[in-house]
Amino acid sequence: MRIDIIAIFPGMFAPILNESIVKRAQKKGKVKIYIHDLRSYSLDKHRKVDDRPFGGGSGMLMRPEPIFAAVEDVKSKSKNQKAKVILLCPQGEKLTQKLAKKIAKYQHLILICGHYEGVDERVRQRLVDEEVSIGDYVLTGGELPAMVLVDAVARLLPGVLGDKNSLNFESFEDNLLEHPHYTRPANFRGMGVPSVLLSGDHKKIESWREKEALKRTKQKRPDLLG
Ligand code: ADE
Repeated sequence: MRIDIIAIFPGMFAPILNESIVKRAQKKGKVKIYIHDLRSYSLDKHRKVDDRPFGGGSGMLMRPEPIFAAVEDVKSKSKNQKAKVILLCPQGEKLTQKLAKKIAKYQHLILICGHYEGVDERVRQRLVDEEVSIGDYVLTGGELPAMVLVDAVARLLPGVLGDKNSLNFESFEDNLLEHPHYTRPANFRGMGVPSVLLSGDHKKIESWREKEALKRTKQKRPDLLG
């Protein structure tokens, strides 16, 4: 997968993208990530990318020209007509594991990080294929949401995680949260481990885990059970 990120704070990405699984995914050649500074596409001599809204009102909007120029430049360089242009903004579809899985199937993503009061509507009309929000709260910009999306998607790419099963048994599979986990020591400060997990009986362990996953989901996230 190729991911191009267009942002006005390109320096925010390096610390996240150069660590952990996203770093490993890049090293393994499973994902190529390119960061583009939106200001370098500004026609303004002060590299301004925002302006006041027509009709008045508070706040500034992102002008359309630099965003169109950036996306068109990326598309022409990558020569990939199948790129999906995704705008990160609070109005978008809420990011879920299901949506991350859908996006993980795309070959090329172009992520636009929104800012200020939002983007000129013509960006949505003509350029953007999908809008994604990472939750019902407002951040100062789309950079953190873009990183969240990249992380959620990169770990789903085939061959990125070491253990194939770790994807099959994690939270939100079958709309369930994960069952409780324990590791060594078997006794920690007087707290034990459920004896079934020490029994070696895999059938019993599996049914205990299913029961616990359901119990936990009912307690913490009944909305997932519908
Ligand atoms: N930009 C600001 N807040 C956001 C959010 N919650 N999701 C995506 N982009 C955003």
